[in-house]
Amino acid sequence: MHTFHGSDLEKIEQVYGIRKEEITGFGANVNPLGLSPLLKDYLAKHLDVLCAYPDRNYTALRAAISAYTGAPAEHILVGNGSTELISAGIRAIRPRDAVILGPAYSEYERELSLTGSRTHYYDLKASEDFLLDEEDLERFMTEGIFSHETDTGSGKSVPCLPQLLVLCNPNNPTSSALTVSQMKRLLSLCKRNGILVMVDETYAEFAPTLSDITAIPLTESYDNLLVLRGVSKFWAAPGLRLGYAVTGNKSMLDEINASKNPWTVSSLADAAGQVMFTDTGYISRTQNLIRAERGHCCSFLSALPGLKVFPSFANFVLVRILEQGITAQDIFEAAIRKKMMIRDCSSFHSLDESFFRFCFMGHEENERLLTCIKEVTCRRTDSLQ
Ligand SMILES: Cc1ncc(COP(=O)(O)O)c(C=O)c1O
Repeated sequence: MHTFHGSDLEKIEQVYGIRKEEITGFGANVNPLGLSPLLKDYLAKHLDVLCAYPDRNYTALRAAISAYTGAPAEHILVGNGSTELISAGIRAIRPRDAVILGPAYSEYERELSLTGSRTHYYDLKASEDFLLDEEDLERFMTEGIFSHETDTGSGKSVPCLPQLLVLCNPNNPTSSALTVSQMKRLLSLCKRNGILVMVDETYAEFAPTLSDITAIPLTESYDNLLVLRGVSKFWAAPGLRLGYAVTGNKSMLDEINASKNPWTVSSLADAAGQVMFTDTGYISRTQNLIRAERGHCCSFLSALPGLKVFPSFANFVLVRILEQGITAQDIFEAAIRKKMMIRDCSSFHSLDESFFRFCFMGHEENERLLTCIKEVTCRRTDSLQ
């Protein structure tokens, strides 16, 4: 049996014989509005930038990201999608032990294992709506689940602490989020234990209020913080491969920069990044659409028997099937036959076949998916009566 990722449209073509152009991608978490019109128009007129190498220091691009995020340009570095920065960050930090707040996007674990780090999951619990208890996480990281070493002074065996905590906010796949005040507590307790924190904010701009959750302003006061973002999801540009990182830790920034290859951000992505963030109309259209569709989809599904809908802070929602005898695979199958692709979450660490995730698309497309989910869950409920 296959579990498909949101971008696996070619595999779907082979297995189900449906042309990828016909599939509505409820699994890819990409903004349904498509590219910003301002960006599209600009790029069409500036294709000649491809004839030159990009600025090796990306000075104008970093200035544009600085204007958009409020972070100083000297705290910003850019990469080939946030993926390159996840990789470069982990390689620069090279932790012996790292903790991932789970369930989580799989790239963190893959990258840590390539670096030879030991990975430990601290799992958020479905029974607590995937909300974090910071003190419990601190106990987990400091009370010796890791290897021990002998303290040279006392001769006692003391636990080795992890050097890195990785988390995603809002989190993929749970769509749960940490508030800024929780993040501050977490950063302080990590700082006192010498732990660096990598926060992946790929979905932050979809949150109901960005300033309630983003950690970017905290990079000014916490030097144990690295924040990552990209343009693949909110800006609907996964093919552009543009990401950025923000940190106030100069030595970490220099270390990451030193390990990166030159020109990994193309001159087209460099040019795009200098204009796209100024499209404020696109930002508000996206936020309005996601707010409305999140409200609609979540209240529709919450009213159906046999489903648990988790609170959503990103542009997608995690749903659990409580009904015996129905799995995420059943919903996936029913949806793909109608050319809609959702994400069966059984392959995520600590989730099982009762969880599925989908992102909010346009209203009519969402209606089609909601009807399909209702048909599958109610068919089963009816057959039991
Ligand atoms: C949490 C998270 N981080 C990073 C990425 C990859 O982003 P990018 O395209 O910017 O490399 C994804 C893609 O699905 C993701 O879900």
